[in-house]
Amino acid sequence: MVLRFFPQKQKYTPEETSFVFDPEGAVPKHIAIIMDGNGRWAQNRRLPRIAGHKEGMETVKKITKHANRLGVKVLTLYAFSTENWKRPEEEVNFLMQLPVDFFDTFVPELIEENVQVHVMGYEEYLPTHTQDAVKRAIEQTAQNDGLVLNFALNYGSRAEIITAIQQMAEEVKNDELAVEGITDDVVGEHLMTGFLPKELRDPELVVRTSGEERISNFLLWQLAYSELYFTKALWPDFDGEHLETAIASFQQRNRRFGGLKKEDKK
Ligand code: IPE
Ligand code: IPE
Ligand code: MG
Repeated sequence: MVLRFFPQKQKYTPEETSFVFDPEGAVPKHIAIIMDGNGRWAQNRRLPRIAGHKEGMETVKKITKHANRLGVKVLTLYAFSTENWKRPEEEVNFLMQLPVDFFDTFVPELIEENVQVHVMGYEEYLPTHTQDAVKRAIEQTAQNDGLVLNFALNYGSRAEIITAIQQMAEEVKNDELAVEGITDDVVGEHLMTGFLPKELRDPELVVRTSGEERISNFLLWQLAYSELYFTKALWPDFDGEHLETAIASFQQRNRRFGGLKKEDKK
C-alpha cells in the first residue's frame, strides 16, 4: 500500500483555533468595523434598544484609543446606514443625537490622542444638530495627524458607487475625464474613502460583531481583498482583547491577492 505517502487531510476545526496576538506582528493600517448587536445587547438585559446604542458609544471610545495605541492609521466605523432610516422614529432620533453626545464628551480626549475625525456619508440628510456636531468635531481635530477616526454616517456603498459613477459621467461629458481614464485609482478617488492616501483607502481588515456574517452595504468596492473577521461578540461587549484577537486572526492569514506566496512558487 502506498497510501501512507499521501499526507493526512487536516481537519478544520475553527472553534479550536486560538488566535494569539503578536505585538511585534503586522497590524492592519486600516481597520473597518460593522458595529452590530447593540439592540440585542440591550434586549438581553430587558432594556430598551437605545440603551444598547448608548453602551455602544462607550465601546467606540475604548476601541478608538486601543486602535490608536496599536498603531492603526485609519479606523472606519459603520455607525448608521442609508437603510437604517427604516427603524422606528424614536430609535432614529436617538441615533442622530448620539454623535452630538459623543463628540461633546470625547473631543478633548481625541485631541489629546492626536486623533482626526472624519465623516463619510450623505451628511446633508442628517438633522442640523447632528451635522453641526460633526462639523465641529472635524474642525476641532483638523490639526491632528494621528489616527483617522472615520465614521460612516448615513453611508451606503451602492449609493456611494452610484454617486461616483454619476460624477465620473459628468466629468466625461465635460471633457475633464477620458473614458479610458476611468481606472481603479480614479474610481477609488471618487468614492467616499477617496480623501485617504491611496495606500490607506481599502481596509486590510473588516470586522463585524454580533455573529451576523454579511456586509450590509458597507465598502463594497474597497473590500475586494480585505480580510474578513466575524465575531459573535455584541458591539457593547467588544473590547481591546477582542480587537487584538481580530488582529491576531489577520496576522495568521496568507494574503495572496490572486498570486502566490514566495515559498509556494517552486
Ligand atoms: C448596530 O446595532 C447599530 C446600528 C445599526 C445603528 P443594531 O441596532 O443593529 O443591533 P441589533 O443588530 O438589532 O442587535
Ligand atoms: C449594519 O447593521 C449597519 C450598521 C452597523 C450601522 P444592521 O443591523 O443595520 O444590518 P442588517 O440589517 O442586520 O443587515
Ligand atoms: Mg443590527
